[in-house]
Amino acid sequence: MIQIAVMGYGTVGSGVVEVLNTNQSSIDKRAGEAIHVKYVLDLRDFPGDPVESVLVHDFETIVQDPEIRIVVEVMGGVEPAYTFTKRCLEAGKSVCTSNKELVARHGAELLELARERNLNYLFEASVGGGIPIIRPLNSSLTADEITEITGILNGTTNYILSKMSHEGIGFETALKDAQAKGYAERNPEADVEGYDACRKIAILTSLVSGRQVDFEDIYTEGITKITAEDIQYAKKMGRAVKLLATSKKEEGRFFAMVAPFLINELHPLYSVNDVFNAIFAKGNVLGDVMFYGSGAGKLPTASAVVADVVDAAKHLHRSIMTFWSSQKMELADISNAKRRFFVRVKGDSKKDAIKMAEIFGPIEVVKVNLAGEFGFVTGEYTEAEYQERASRTDAVINRIRMEG
Ligand code: HSE
Repeated sequence: MIQIAVMGYGTVGSGVVEVLNTNQSSIDKRAGEAIHVKYVLDLRDFPGDPVESVLVHDFETIVQDPEIRIVVEVMGGVEPAYTFTKRCLEAGKSVCTSNKELVARHGAELLELARERNLNYLFEASVGGGIPIIRPLNSSLTADEITEITGILNGTTNYILSKMSHEGIGFETALKDAQAKGYAERNPEADVEGYDACRKIAILTSLVSGRQVDFEDIYTEGITKITAEDIQYAKKMGRAVKLLATSKKEEGRFFAMVAPFLINELHPLYSVNDVFNAIFAKGNVLGDVMFYGSGAGKLPTASAVVADVVDAAKHLHRSIMTFWSSQKMELADISNAKRRFFVRVKGDSKKDAIKMAEIFGPIEVVKVNLAGEFGFVTGEYTEAEYQERASRTDAVINRIRMEG
């Protein structure tokens, strides 16, 4: 029997216990030994809950118990999760986590600690919830150089954008609906400003490159400025607005960013709607591959955590994760990234369109039923060139990057 401890009995922690109970016999068979939850750590009490008998409030009970071989860290946040994870690894226990903040900030160091001790630090659930993506990158796509990884990595914002598109409503109304359904938190900043997706693409880029990508270096723009009017133009162009987290390798360096993009119906991520996530990768020999599924939620996320527990149980004395070095990776400057832009401007006369063409060069005008404004698509510029041209006019209402 393998004794494990679960640190944090919130949404994911209770999901982990539920998944272990629901699929106990098949999980035990796959792990090769029975998996038993000896402790659940939480500051709170849960009177009447089945975990009451194994509930502890003191981390020392777990770290000092030599019977505990695997610890599930689903507390979230950097501290005390970082200190607890380090101490568990130093005490010879493998750790499985869904904690993207911690993995993005200290993943390299924790992986190194695990590797030095022939242990595992596994974090499948930190990106894409229940979608297998870390394991495929770690063990299936190993024959390839990954040249691009682009995903819809945040369910909350994908739900909001889908709702805006289906119902023609504005951002605030769609956000309220997402909050009412429990898809968005009361303080939605981390999701709607793109910070959550930023940490996830930092983790994926670090894994793909084998070096530390600091999430602070990734240009991040959320969806709060996307309006119902923008979506009207998107529809007219046969496109969808999606919050993409993307990393592309060009001339040996990665351009990484998080921002809303207008994608066309041929793009593999076009049909990924509602709370679903998907990750699209390009390998230099494999070509394109895509992973799709539930990127958040109690049971999908717990499913990924428990799969890591099974893997850790099967490899109690062997480190199986790809090493990602603490050496910092310098990202390419996104002001040199080239793309087309969709721009909405004030004005509605032919003269206004000509003026825009004088500033932006050849443009394709897009019109919808909105008075006093029009939209257009530019030719391909670097971000810096676009900024320079846009600074020559005060007519710009909004701009969205185009992909494909
Ligand atoms: N808030 C996140 C999302 C949860 O909406 O995708 C999963 O990391």
